[in-house]
Amino acid sequence: ALISMRQMLDHAAEYGYGIPAFNVNNLEQMRAIMEAADATDSPVIVQASAGARKYAGAPFLRHLILAAVEEFPHIPVAMHQDHGTSPAVCQRSIQLGFSSVMMDGSLGEDGKTPMDYDYNVNVTRRTVEMAHACGVSVEGELGCLGSLETGMAGEEDGIGAEGKLDREQLLTDPEEAAAFVKATHVDALAIAIGTSHGAYKFTQPPTGDTLSIQRIKEIHARIPDTHLVMHGSSSVPQAWLEVINQYGGEIPETYGVPVAEIVEGIKHGVRKVNIDTDLRLASTGAVRRFLAENPSEFDPRKFLKETVTAMRDLCIARYEAFGTAGNA
Ligand code: G3H
Ligand code: 13P
Ligand code: NA
Ligand code: ZN
Repeated sequence: ALISMRQMLDHAAEYGYGIPAFNVNNLEQMRAIMEAADATDSPVIVQASAGARKYAGAPFLRHLILAAVEEFPHIPVAMHQDHGTSPAVCQRSIQLGFSSVMMDGSLGEDGKTPMDYDYNVNVTRRTVEMAHACGVSVEGELGCLGSLETGMAGEEDGIGAEGKLDREQLLTDPEEAAAFVKATHVDALAIAIGTSHGAYKFTQPPTGDTLSIQRIKEIHARIPDTHLVMHGSSSVPQAWLEVINQYGGEIPETYGVPVAEIVEGIKHGVRKVNIDTDLRLASTGAVRRFLAENPSEFDPRKFLKETVTAMRDLCIARYEAFGTAGNA
């Protein structure tokens, strides 16, 4: 059944687990997520970005998610709009039937320019008023996402500030977070605690302090009833990078957020964990390997089936690690 994200995150908070929010663009991703949720008895958050709507078309995305609900009626599904850049964008998603929207007022409508606090409060509060009237949940964002190592937002497709940020800019302020939640009434808050979007988060192998767990604790202590969201939470599996590069890919050395650190964040109020890049890496690796090993095959179902298996296994691993499994 399609349910609101608030309801799902409230349950996660009560029982102390996290829920991965996977980005969805096509049938194979949707099927991989649902098969993994079915195998592990997990609730599902699927989210669609502006890029996804551009790729698949909003009606196709909507029906993809509704088809998942129809085929897996026993799995709770929240249909979330990722990184809305204005109240108008969020309104269109609500009209399309999304049960949750993100109003990302940390950046301007171009998705790049860091905006001020008052702008963020204004667009987020307006979105909450509209969404709550329709029973739809709202995620806001406060702070500029960026890697604590490189100081870069690390965006690939148009979401993220440009240029190098300093450490204070990269960490959400707990007092400001409390004021923001009070002024907007958001259901969930995306915070900057050291993550960044895309595959290029860290240049060195992680040593266990990729995230500022300390800052997560401080924010959670200040706003214990607000569900915290971690964007940029792909772990960039080294095994998939090796497969990609073994079969003709050229991806330079790079590292993501270790699953163990995400699990630590979940202990301190993180409830929604956004993952897109890992599914991209798994599907690319699966396709490259299959086509290299089966050069005479030309039925797309053969190599796309490999992507479903690869992504499904990755989703299962996250559902298990985050404690989502068993909570559908
Ligand atoms: O937040 C960014 C997500 O990874 C979505 O990326 O805009 O390329 O669909 P996208
Ligand atoms: P990754 O690029 O780390 O997968 O993050 C995705 C994300 O935050 C989507 O909003
Ligand atoms: Na989101
Ligand atoms: Zn994001």
